[in-house]
Formats: sequence, structure tokens, C-alpha cells
Amino acid sequence: MSRTFDVALEAIAANTAANKTAHTAPTAAALPPVFAPAQDRAQDKDQSQISPSGGGKSFYIETFGCQMNAHDSEKVSGVLLARGYRAVNHPAQADLVLYNTCSIREKAAHKVFSRLGEWRGVAQEQGKIIGVLGCVAQQEGEEIFERAPWVSLVCGSASYQKLPQLMAELESGGRRVMGLDLDTDETFETEITRRDNPIRAYITIIEGCDYACSYCVVPHTRGPERSRPSDAVLAEARRLADAGYTEIQLLGQTVNSYRDPSPRALNFTGLLRAVAGVSGIRRVRFTTSHPNDFTREIIEAVDEVPALCDHFHLPVQSGSTRILRAMRRTYTREEYLEKISWIRNARRPASLTSDIIVGFPGETEEDFEQSITLLDAVGYDGIFAFKYSLRPNTTARDMPDAVSEEEKSRRLAILQDRQREIQTAQNEKLIGQSFEVLVDAHREARGQWLGRTTNNRMLNFSSPRLTLLGQYVKVKVTRAGPNSLAGEEVV
Ligand code: 5AD
Ligand code: SF4
Repeated sequence: MSRTFDVALEAIAANTAANKTAHTAPTAAALPPVFAPAQDRAQDKDQSQISPSGGGKSFYIETFGCQMNAHDSEKVSGVLLARGYRAVNHPAQADLVLYNTCSIREKAAHKVFSRLGEWRGVAQEQGKIIGVLGCVAQQEGEEIFERAPWVSLVCGSASYQKLPQLMAELESGGRRVMGLDLDTDETFETEITRRDNPIRAYITIIEGCDYACSYCVVPHTRGPERSRPSDAVLAEARRLADAGYTEIQLLGQTVNSYRDPSPRALNFTGLLRAVAGVSGIRRVRFTTSHPNDFTREIIEAVDEVPALCDHFHLPVQSGSTRILRAMRRTYTREEYLEKISWIRNARRPASLTSDIIVGFPGETEEDFEQSITLLDAVGYDGIFAFKYSLRPNTTARDMPDAVSEEEKSRRLAILQDRQREIQTAQNEKLIGQSFEVLVDAHREARGQWLGRTTNNRMLNFSSPRLTLLGQYVKVKVTRAGPNSLAGEEVV
């Protein structure tokens, strides 16, 4: 699992089950709009090394879903830039239109087909090449060509390494070009990565997933777990530091299952410490952690190394051991809570966020109550809550005792109300405290800056200064709501 939990304190408001489509630490939150594409900034490699096989053609890529997808799109863009394509900001201007898709819940998958529908009868007329990448591509495969015959490329994330060959086929007039092989031990390595976020850079350290949660399509759409060699990860971190980044987020569906395949054989904590040791890197985030692979060692590293951010996104999915078993989550409520107690007993007061599903087949009122009491027991700083969505190729698909949509909505609302109360109480406790934030946006209309603390809290603040983007600033919290914190720069 994984998603980027970008806006911990805005999780409930901005990321209800109804509108979210993500999966890598809470992430799943899409980049906030403040991170407008800065395509001319920080590419990983000198553009003079670009080969011109794209012949100056243009491309547009739209991304759905999680942070892993957002970063995959940055890498796919890098592959295209390396072939001499240029990025444009609107599909109408593009020769090649790509959709990097998400199928974690049904709604997300539907969205893609409605986008594709917009090209019916138009794509060919306008000489455009349309491609579908990511989870829907992998899940639907060749079917996509049947449903939308104007699509020319279908490629799942486990085949991105083959993108240069697939692009060559397309460029020489190929139709129905496919990359759907799931049986791979390769990871997606790129010469160039387009960096769309000027403040924080993403590095995928592990792809795919070897868990088999009964509700989840990811093992089917992203393939088996593959870790990247630590020297490749560290080289990327060094390049990013040289390009001026101070914050790095390590990504993986189960980021803490990382196992270095190179002779150095670092485990996840070893890699965390090594990345934090890269000169110039001041913050290292990671997402999403699986509770099963969450060790004391990780907490010890965060306690010892200030550059490791004190925020854990640890999706629990349900507070009921009975449902956790049906979900095949590999831990009980008690085991999960034990790990939470390790975090609570650590020296640094970390923030904690989670994903929760309501209305899993067979979830009784008592099971649901257990999810509510778990919220109280943990005191999360934010959650992403979802109504269970039946997915193809998952074992939960055939489970009896479906919960009605109406009941799922009711449970979701109760869960979110309870969490809102918890967040209000947690946030009020922060009033009067000061935090260092990395400033990542300016809200012109309100004349306010927006920064993020190491524990991933967003802080709105005022400052007399005119240029603060990308800077570290100390801010004192003066006001708190359930989804936001406001303060003033401490000078
Ligand atoms: N229905 C609802 N939510 C799901 N998630 C994954 N699969 C499903 C599904 N079929 C949620 C989990 C996961 C998050 C990224 O998406 O909570 O952690
Ligand atoms: Fe996460 Fe489970 Fe899905 Fe793997 S199968 S991505 S662990 S929810």
C-alpha cells in the first residue's frame, strides 16, 4: 500500500472516500495545486544528451491516483523528453496524449474511460496518438482497444522499462502497441526525470507488492515487489541534492518492505539512514509503510536522525481483527496497537495517519464500532477513509454479505465526524508551540504562506517577508481548526 499523505491535516476534508483515488502514503493525495508543473526546473540530467527520435513532437500526460503514479508520470515524461518530445500544458496542443491511470476504486477507473470517450472520432482526425498507462492499462489490457479503438498504446507500470521500445514502435506507425508483462524483476530506471514539484523530490525505492490484501488490485496491476539497488537510490538522492532539493520522499506501495538487491544488502532502515546522510538533504519522508514490516528499528532511526521525518502513515484499514483477517492484512488490532505504542513511547512526538475502509463485506455494526474505538485509541492526526469498492481480480470480490451503499455512506460519515473531533482536539494542543516549516506555497488571495512541518502538518502563516518559497522558517501556531493550523513567523 502506499500513497502520499500530502496534506495530513486536510485529509478528511480533501480526501474523502468519494473523491480520492490514491494509494502510496497518504498520499494518495494528489499534489496540491500549489505545485504547478515547473517543467523547466530540475531535470535529473543535462538536456544536451537528448536524442531527437521524437522529432520535436509534443506530449501531454494526465495523472490519476496516488503519489507513485504522479512520480511514474515524472519518469515517463523524462523518457519522452530524452526522445526529443516536448511537454505541453493542454491535450489539444499535444501529438501524444497519455493518461496514467488508477484503478484502486471503481470511480477512479471510470474517470479514465470518460476521458478516453472525449477522443471518440477526434483522435484519428487530428492525428493524435492516445495512450493509456498505469493500473487501468494493466487491469483492462487489450480490452481497452476494443472499448476505445482510437487508443494506440496500453502499458502497465511493470513494463515502463520497455517504454523506449514501445515508443519506437509507435513512432514507426505501430497501432495497438502493448506493454502488459507482469512477470518482471526489473524496476523503472530513467536517464531523465521531469521534476514537477520544485520543493520536494520523489524517489521510488520499491515497486509492486507481494502482499495479497483481499480488497486490493495493486498486486495485480503493479506486479511483484521489486526493490531498487541502494546505490541507484543514493545516486539519485545526491543528484537531487546537487539540483537544490533539501526534501526527499521515498516511495513504495509497501516502502518499508525494502530489501536492497545489491551486495550492500541494506534493509529499509539502513537505506533511510544512508539517504538522510546525503549532504544537503534536510528532510526524508517515506510512504506508505505496511504495519507488518514496521519495526522498532525504524522508530529508533527517526529518533536518532533529525533529517528523518517524524510522521508515520500506517494504514490500519479496519479496527476489527475479524475484518482484518478477512482483508488478509496479516496483523490483529492488538498487534497494530502495540506498534502504535512503540511510536508513542519514542522520544520524538511523531504524527500518525492512516487509511481506513468502511463497509468491507461482512462488516457488522460491532466491527465498525471497533474502527471507531481504534480512532480513539490511536489519536490519528489525519485519516483517509474509503467506502469499500469491489474490484476485479481480488479475492474479496466473491465474498458474501455485501454492505449496502447507503450503509457504507452512513459509516463513512460517522467515522469522519469522529476523526474531525479528534483532530480538533489534537490541533488545539499545538497552539503556542513553534515548528520549523519548509515553505512550499504562497496564497496570494489571503496573503499567507504555506509550510509543512517535519511531521507533515500544514501551517498557514503570515510573514512580512516577500520571498520564502523553499526556505525553512520557524512558525508559532496561533489558531487551530480540525483541518488547518495557522500561525506567525517567529523572528
Ligand atoms: N476499496 C476501497 N478502498 C480501497 N483501498 C484499496 N483498495 C480499496 C478498495 N477496493 C484503499 C486502502 C488503501 C488505500 C490506498 O486505498 O485503504 O490503503
Ligand atoms: Fe497495500 Fe495490501 Fe494493496 Fe499491497 S495488497 S498495495 S499491502 S493494500
